[in-house]
Amino acid sequence: MRVRIERAKQFSGSTAAPGDKSISHRALIFAALSSGTCQIENLAPGQDLRSTARCLVELGVTITSEGPRAMVQGRGLSLSTPRQTLDCGNSGTTMRLLSGMVAGARIAAVLDGDASLRRRPMKRVLDPLRQMGAKAEGTQDDKGGETAPLRFEPGPRLLGKRHQLPVASAQVKSCLLLAGLWAEGNTEIAEPQQSRDHSERMLRAFGAPLEIGPRGVLSIHRMERPLSVPPHLYVPGDPSSAAFFVAAALLVGTGPLRISGVDINPTRSGFLEVLRRMGAPLSVEPEPPQGGEPVGTLVVAGAAPLEATEVKSEEIPSLIDEVPILSVIATQARGTTVIRGAEELRHKESDRIAQMAKGLAAMGASVEELPDGLRIDGPAPLKGTVIDALGDHRIAMSFAVAGLAAQGTTEIEGAEWADISFPGFFDVLARLSNTPLA
Ligand code: S3P
Repeated sequence: MRVRIERAKQFSGSTAAPGDKSISHRALIFAALSSGTCQIENLAPGQDLRSTARCLVELGVTITSEGPRAMVQGRGLSLSTPRQTLDCGNSGTTMRLLSGMVAGARIAAVLDGDASLRRRPMKRVLDPLRQMGAKAEGTQDDKGGETAPLRFEPGPRLLGKRHQLPVASAQVKSCLLLAGLWAEGNTEIAEPQQSRDHSERMLRAFGAPLEIGPRGVLSIHRMERPLSVPPHLYVPGDPSSAAFFVAAALLVGTGPLRISGVDINPTRSGFLEVLRRMGAPLSVEPEPPQGGEPVGTLVVAGAAPLEATEVKSEEIPSLIDEVPILSVIATQARGTTVIRGAEELRHKESDRIAQMAKGLAAMGASVEELPDGLRIDGPAPLKGTVIDALGDHRIAMSFAVAGLAAQGTTEIEGAEWADISFPGFFDVLARLSNTPLA
């Protein structure tokens, strides 16, 4: 599907962010490991969540869902052997978190996904799981890595180990936390930098034997009884989805934009920090916490002159999914914005560094692709062109926002990929910019 976007004269109004994708995956998975029933509200709407729900049903969990609401009847610690391949679709979070669960529960299972997911690195979860004794193998790629399909066989009970993660990854960390719930002894996990901590928050709130030690080292013990998940959970709004609207307001806004119900967990709010440094007229009005997460309304006063900034590698985990849209904003900031230490972006749904460099250059931006990031000189006028999302939801949405600030028409080929995390994105974009999209 191709969507045409014209330059916008305004971007303002009110909206709410859809439920957070990371928290939604975890809410479904942890509710599956309880012995009770949990009603989850405001689940992320995209296809990735459906992938997790579908796989959990294959593992014997009962899930009934209607719109953003799901009722999960947990299985405690006794999952069943799936009769078919666990299809994780496009979702890396589904594949990596469920790998930990399947390995820990010692279940025979094959995990697979779409063409994009089959290209993503899985040795990062298979190696530490094998060190714990899991019988797991992936498919060898030509660079010495392993990718999906992944095959798990039942073996002896896993043994807790200490893992020093080479990259900060909430998916790998959460995979090992899940495996650790079944492992004999202690499973320890140390990350080079703190990645998003939704799993830690939820596991502790649900009674998992998890401790956070000095320098953030996690230590989890074998779970003797099912998780105690409350009967109701509410998922706060997704800051990574909200980021596209914040960007649009900063680029073309003429009045205030309010986005309510957004998760403002510090491990996710690096994007807001960087924007403040760039001079963005941005404020956060606190709201009551939801599901153990801090929540707020984001308010952008409107477009404003922005200054370039340097984004350091330590900041990357807290804004990893926002780098594409941040690079769009940087094209309109005065000076040279440098984003480093973001090589992980080359292993997302697409090589996001290459895609942003190529697409922004095609729109007239002055951009240099670095091995681990981007250097962008601004401000540079953008011009509309045809951008292929190449199977990546965040690329589709980032260039849609760039199109609102560009002269002429921008066409997003593969606009339907936005549905992976944000169905209805283009409708909200059209409403807030008061520009019909074709
Ligand atoms: C996610 C973690 C991040 C992020 C992804 C979702 C999660 O990936 O990019 O969109 O839910 O744990 P990594 O942990 O691999 O960096």
